[in-house]
Amino acid sequence: MGPITLLILALLLSMSSAAEISSKVGVCYGQLGDNLPSPSQSVKLIQSLKAKRVKIYDANPDILKSLKDTDIQVSIMVPNELITNISLNQSLANQWVETHVVPFYPETKIRYLLVGNEILSGNDNMTISNLVPAMRRIKISLNTHQLHKIKVGTPLAMDVLESSFPPSKATFRSDISRPIIGPMLQFLNRTKSFLFLDVYPYFAWSSNPKSINLDYALFMAKNTTYTDPNTALTYTNLFDQMVDAVIFAMRRIGFPNIRIFIAETGWPNNGDCDQIGANIFNAATYNRNIVKKLTTKPTIGTPARPGWVLPSFIFSLYNENKKPGPGTERHFGLVHPNGSHVYQMDLSAKTPEWQYEPLPKPINNEPFKGRIWCVAAKEANRSALGSALSYACSQGNKTCEPVQPGKQCYKPNSDFWHASFAFSSYWAQFRKVGGTCYFNGLATQTIRDPSYGHCKFPSVTL
Ligand SMILES: *[C@@H]1O[C@H](CO)[C@@H](O)[C@H](O)[C@H]1NC(C)=O
Ligand SMILES: *[C@@H]1O[C@H](CO)[C@@H](O)[C@H](O)[C@H]1NC(C)=O
Ligand SMILES: *[C@@H]1O[C@H](CO)[C@@H](O)[C@H](O)[C@H]1NC(C)=O
Ligand SMILES: *[C@@H]1O[C@H](CO)[C@@H](O)[C@H](O)[C@H]1NC(C)=O
Ligand SMILES: *[C@@H]1O[C@H](CO)[C@@H](O)[C@H](O)[C@H]1NC(C)=O
Ligand SMILES: *[C@@H]1O[C@H](CO)[C@@H](O)[C@H](O)[C@H]1NC(C)=O
Ligand SMILES: *[C@@H]1O[C@H](CO)[C@@H](O)[C@H](O)[C@H]1NC(C)=O
Ligand SMILES: *[C@@H]1O[C@H](CO)[C@@H](O)[C@H](O)[C@H]1NC(C)=O
Repeated sequence: MGPITLLILALLLSMSSAAEISSKVGVCYGQLGDNLPSPSQSVKLIQSLKAKRVKIYDANPDILKSLKDTDIQVSIMVPNELITNISLNQSLANQWVETHVVPFYPETKIRYLLVGNEILSGNDNMTISNLVPAMRRIKISLNTHQLHKIKVGTPLAMDVLESSFPPSKATFRSDISRPIIGPMLQFLNRTKSFLFLDVYPYFAWSSNPKSINLDYALFMAKNTTYTDPNTALTYTNLFDQMVDAVIFAMRRIGFPNIRIFIAETGWPNNGDCDQIGANIFNAATYNRNIVKKLTTKPTIGTPARPGWVLPSFIFSLYNENKKPGPGTERHFGLVHPNGSHVYQMDLSAKTPEWQYEPLPKPINNEPFKGRIWCVAAKEANRSALGSALSYACSQGNKTCEPVQPGKQCYKPNSDFWHASFAFSSYWAQFRKVGGTCYFNGLATQTIRDPSYGHCKFPSVTL
């Protein structure tokens, strides 16, 4: 290389490191629904939200094609299952990049390549230990193709922390701190990438609503603040407190400068009867307030990093009906699967508050008190109910006695009614040890007693 080439190279490098990261807000485009609009319709919906970035959980070629020639910056993901093989095999890493990135770049503005999703929150030790090596291999492949604009990272959930309170005392979990987080931060530092973080004040608040003020979680607190005794930094919302905990944990192990990218945040617009605070009012309030905070100029940052940009993705584009777990999991969407908005939302934060229609008043901001039953959902697939019924009846103590022939709940003799009884009976026995009212989407909670005649359905009392 001649001196001129070197000079140009140095100039280019200094330009790219000086490139400002924008605070524009994006949206996560999860696809775990069986009723979702096509990729091209989805891109229109993403634009209707004024999202400037989108994160997908794979590298779906139809989606990447649909994003071609838009100004939307894109984050793609290597599936968890491939991490171990990619970590062992540079050709496989190259092949992944050649198949999933090269054909779409630069027309599709791929900017972030996330390796796996919340790997450190799982219990697959093999994948956990191969995570950082896989990130390195993917980075090498991108470099080989001169794809220097694409940052490599991996999303972490808050449970990578052993303690997060007070924020200044936060530490990473001891099982991952030295072997995984250390090398990961080294990689992120060297490649000038981000620590991608999933931050859900909803989960922190809802598991502890008595000691955390809801307004503090919704960026609405007037009087509630928290001052960290060690730093004297004053917090006005839970989100900042959670982000700063991670920042202090990184400082503690010698990486004070790595930027944070909010890979997911959001609030559910609905949930199960036994879930608190999942409603449209809170979801709209949280998302509108955080978008305003993140896009305000001059940049606000957090108490530990005033003025730092926090690029981010809101979770999620759609309510996704095939996500397992409690009802909130299926209700983080900004948009219904039929394309209508769950509430008005502008991710550019340019819509003034007064232009929004009034929101429905929240009715579940206090813990529910009373009885709850678990019954077959109206829309449950009738031919799948039989095996769910058998499963529920095979668990616990005399779960299904009353639906046996001749007993008080035998009639009406249908899978729908028998399953409803069995689900209630199962859930009443097992909720306290973590049993859920889900049954692959066949079951739903209700506060209306389904009992009839002499047939009394077991219930959970909160
Ligand atoms: C990983 O590689 C092994 C050995 O080559 C292969 O048998 C396996 O199917 C691969 N796993 C995945 C998820 O591709
Ligand atoms: C590495 O990956 C390449 C490309 O998929 C494959 O052809 C090769 O067999 C793999 N090598 C090993 C040792 O698994
Ligand atoms: C594997 O994971 C389990 C549970 O997540 C943990 O207790 C154990 O120490 C891990 N084993 C190794 C070798 O890292
Ligand atoms: C804030 O504090 C003032 C005075 O302590 C009190 O009158 C007011 O009701 C509080 N407001 C809220 C929203 O809690
Ligand atoms: C990487 O680490 C060095 C040395 O601690 C520090 O000066 C630099 O700011 C760090 N860069 C990033 C992006 O964290
Ligand atoms: C779209 O779906 C939602 C939720 O099911 C429903 O409330 C709404 O009325 C539907 N809108 C249209 C236009 O069909
Ligand atoms: C309903 O359940 C049956 C049995 O599990 C399955 O074969 C069928 O595909 C399901 N139908 C739908 C529409 O999901
Ligand atoms: C079933 O009954 C046994 C004996 O009474 C008891 O130890 C066990 O906890 C019961 N199981 C459930 C799920 O209630």
